[in-house]
Amino acid sequence: MNALEIKALSKSFRSNFLYKKTSILKNVDINVNKGSIYGFLGLNGAGKTTTIKCILGLTRPDHGTIRLFGKETGKASDRASIGFLPESPYYYDYLNAKETLALSGKLSSLSNEKIKERTAKIISLVGLDGKEDLLLKKFSKGMLQRVGLAQALINDPDLIILDEPFSGLDPIGRKELRDIILSLKAEGKTIFFSSHILQDMELIVDDIGILMNGKITKEGKLKDLVKKTIKHPVDYSLEDLFLKEIKK
Ligand SMILES: Nc1ncnc2c1ncn2[C@@H]1O[C@H](COP(=O)(O)OP(=O)(O)OP(=O)(O)O)[C@@H](O)[C@H]1O
Ligand SMILES: [Mg+2]
Repeated sequence: MNALEIKALSKSFRSNFLYKKTSILKNVDINVNKGSIYGFLGLNGAGKTTTIKCILGLTRPDHGTIRLFGKETGKASDRASIGFLPESPYYYDYLNAKETLALSGKLSSLSNEKIKERTAKIISLVGLDGKEDLLLKKFSKGMLQRVGLAQALINDPDLIILDEPFSGLDPIGRKELRDIILSLKAEGKTIFFSSHILQDMELIVDDIGILMNGKITKEGKLKDLVKKTIKHPVDYSLEDLFLKEIKK
């Protein structure tokens, strides 16, 4: 079964003072297999965030259908199985990580007991052990990204949507995030993430979809697509070398 199935999704915006409509998504079809990691690839302005907003019900598509685990989405409760990390999350500086997660848990209508249980598990999963009580204003970009990811996981979602999760992270932060994503997959979760950092994508995804000019131009198993399209695979040993040097 598909965790996410998008059919003929179209979205246009009225973009200037003449009220002319610009078509951003043009009959986008996306199929995300349950339990897989799906990389949603596209240049700046391709429409990745717009697609994600449609999935989350944050913007209304012109037409198209979106199914989650076989069920068409309509009301907000249909999307309860989604965890989401936005592209530019907003955090309350004067809350600590634990309080931030408690707030997200409350917004997901979790009981205090459940919040406590989930927080303990997630803090450790995202590598924030020992930092639970530190105010977020003292967090680095990498640590904030972990908090964002933790927030996305509070309700134990089956589908985790991450918009540009690797942006702004250093090589170690990216390696750790890749490992977290892989461990979520090992738990049976489905992960759908957008990025244009090809290297990270290539290292973890099962499937990719490429969004170009509002259309999916390629979708499928990375292995099959790369074999067909890339004659000389890029050697990424620089990252290995750099990581080794840092750990010395
Ligand atoms: N609310 C809006 N009103 C008008 N135009 C919008 C709106 N939201 C997005 N757009 C336009 O839609 C296009 C796609 O934007 P979107 O944010 O989805 O791209 P993206 O693929 O996520 O890009 P990036 O990689 O930079 O995050 C852009 O041209 C953007 O200006
Ligand atoms: Mg975006």
